[in-house]
Amino acid sequence: MGCFSCFSPHRKDVQNCDDETGVRSAESSERGKGRDALKGRGKENGTRSGEGACSYTFRELAVAANNFRDVNLIGQGGFGSVYKGRLESGQLVAVKKLNLNGHQGNKEFIMEVLMLSLLHHPNLVTLKGYCTDGDQRLLVYEYMAMGSLENHLFDLRPDKKVLEWSTRLKIAVGAARGLEYLHCKASPPVIYRDLKSSNILLDNEFHPKLSDFGLAKLGPVGDNTHVSTRVMGTYGYCAPEYAMSGKLTLKSDIYSFGVVMLELITGRRAYDSARNPGEQNVVVWARPFMKDKRKFVQLVDPLLQGRFSTSSLHHTVAITAMCIQEQPTFRPLIGDIVVALEYLASQAESSDATRSGSRTPQQPSPSHRHRLNVHFS
Ligand SMILES: Nc1ncnc2c1ncn2[C@@H]1O[C@H](COP(=O)(O)OP(=O)(O)O)[C@@H](O)[C@H]1O
Ligand SMILES: [Mg+2]
Repeated sequence: MGCFSCFSPHRKDVQNCDDETGVRSAESSERGKGRDALKGRGKENGTRSGEGACSYTFRELAVAANNFRDVNLIGQGGFGSVYKGRLESGQLVAVKKLNLNGHQGNKEFIMEVLMLSLLHHPNLVTLKGYCTDGDQRLLVYEYMAMGSLENHLFDLRPDKKVLEWSTRLKIAVGAARGLEYLHCKASPPVIYRDLKSSNILLDNEFHPKLSDFGLAKLGPVGDNTHVSTRVMGTYGYCAPEYAMSGKLTLKSDIYSFGVVMLELITGRRAYDSARNPGEQNVVVWARPFMKDKRKFVQLVDPLLQGRFSTSSLHHTVAITAMCIQEQPTFRPLIGDIVVALEYLASQAESSDATRSGSRTPQQPSPSHRHRLNVHFS
């Protein structure tokens, strides 16, 4: 095993590459702590695994993933299969084995390694390493025990627990914080381009992390407002102006974020060909209900069986409606979405706690109320 030297020049990082402590501390970081880590990357926590992506041999990864047997298969995506594995150090990982369809897959592999070697945040998945032996292209990630958000929202088996309203908001906040980091902290900004529920991975505590940066684009610099690209992404999540013109802006990600919010509210997939015409695209189906407050309740995932507060629903739908506006300039900035959702998530968590008798409700801070009034009421 070796390390990508240009990103991780110190021997210390090599030694710490597989250190589980780094993963745990990053996962448990709160938002403020994550920001500190960004300002002084590596100083605060020398064991952060994201500091260096390691190069593994194919053999090492085949051993880790039980020779890529079906029992280790945990998912299948557009670019390959994902296997659960255990490194020699004992650390659990997810190994993505890419099906290289010529040049494009390789480009995405390089972009993924590059982006995840440079970007570090508690709400972005950590890349532990990669393998480029011969024609093989594999990526090694921290293992996210609960899989993707998609696995918890749609086609639930009867024995699977329904995601409660407060958990849905907690996931929305984490995803928004990850996006805020890409849009506002990374320099130049990064347009994610592939925000969808299958790319939001969850740990044991349903702490979310964004994954798959193979399609990410460095955003516009200087006076430019957009970058022009070939239209890529996932049907149902793509902003209309991007799908039509290929003009990509930070606001394209906000639209996709709004679609994920709709999935969280409704329990319906962004696009579901199994539904009746008119109901297949969740945005098209939801728009009429979003115009009238009295109809908001008809949007809600029936599996919640009324376990949400009406006021929380109203605010959440209002934020979502702003994100999916046709006109990109009217969509909010991610920083404002984070503030609004943090307030709603803390309220939902407090009412859960009150219901279970463990805590008194937390009052929103004046700044939260102010920002919410300005932008979202
Ligand atoms: N780091 C990970 N930890 C646990 N499960 C993962 C991880 N990465 C991916 N998966 C699982 O593998 C599935 C396929 O992932 P991926 O190849 O990225 O395709 P897609 O994003 O299109 O679903 C995901 O939906 C998820 O269930
Ligand atoms: Mg993915």
